Amino acid sequence: MKYTSYFKVTKLRITFANLISNIQKMNKTIFITGASTGIGKATAIYFAEKGWNVAATMRTTSKGTDLLKYPNVKLLSVDVMQTESIATAIEQSIEHFGGIDVMFNNAGYGLVGAFEAMSDAQIRRQFDTNVFGVMNVTRAILPYFREKKVGTIINTTSMGGIITFPLYSVYHSTKWALEGFMESLQFELRSHNIKIKNIEPGAIKTDFENAIDFVSTASYDNYAIKVHHNMLESYKQAPGPIVVAKKVWKAANDNSYRLRYPVGGLGPFLIVIRKLLPLSWFVSVVRLATEKGSKS
Ligand SMILES: NC(=O)c1ccc[n+]([C@@H]2O[C@H](COP(=O)([O-])OP(=O)(O)OC[C@H]3O[C@@H](n4cnc5c(N)ncnc54)[C@H](OP(=O)(O)O)[C@@H]3O)[C@@H](O)[C@H]2O)c1
Repeated sequence: MKYTSYFKVTKLRITFANLISNIQKMNKTIFITGASTGIGKATAIYFAEKGWNVAATMRTTSKGTDLLKYPNVKLLSVDVMQTESIATAIEQSIEHFGGIDVMFNNAGYGLVGAFEAMSDAQIRRQFDTNVFGVMNVTRAILPYFREKKVGTIINTTSMGGIITFPLYSVYHSTKWALEGFMESLQFELRSHNIKIKNIEPGAIKTDFENAIDFVSTASYDNYAIKVHHNMLESYKQAPGPIVVAKKVWKAANDNSYRLRYPVGGLGPFLIVIRKLLPLSWFVSVVRLATEKGSKS
């Protein structure tokens, strides 16, 4: 008798687990890079709460354990500089959720400061993460989306992929590279029904500020330290990452081929005035706002 009820409960549990797994396979799935903090994490939570499956990928999965309270979130280990980790996580996500609908290239950080003081290794690491990392992930998902004949690739670029500020020359060059790469890539992918969407945040209050790799030398210190301080001040008024998560949601669901989605703080306004003003005027505005109290 005891054994019979044990088997009944076990069978019920297995059936319930199958039911959950089948429901998950019917829902849409987003695969996110850099989901341990900031924009990636806020997006993981937002999509999970809306009922999507979320493959929340990060370099160190122990950083994401609080996401496990959502049964529709799976933590996977990805370093965007390691192609094998990307391939394995994509396979695991497809196996677990039954597919991937949206690839969200979000991982990135900022190398900031005087260009002359930056080492070759620092510049290469910035490009390896922000540009080649995105290319690695994009190349890994394309065969799957092409075969499925549908898919959406969303990228966190930046307002810094359209306009520039002092001390961000290398970071900007990675984000400008992404804007150009994605703007061109959309042409060849359109006939395969694959959409490209660039989310362009202004300043957003996340761990980004803490993750900034700041570099200077004595010859630039008078300028760089003050300007860096002024730039960081803008984060104090900045909105949190939820505004970006909502924009990612819109981009994932609006079913359009729209490429660019500016969002957050002064970002969308600055992008518009950069288009309207002559460049020399725009540069003067940026200098006024960022170089207060500095001696160049
Ligand atoms: N915050 C802003 O003001 C702002 C504005 C415009 C654009 N963005 C862009 O938004 C994206 C997200 O930044 P955030 O503001 O959310 O900053 P964040 O809180 O520092 O998050 C960055 C994420 O990227 C991950 N990451 C860094 N290098 C990686 C690598 N090699 N492989 C995998 N993951 C890696 C980090 O993982 P770890 O935890 O392992 O370090 C972290 O999860 C970045 O692309 C950034 O350039 C941010």
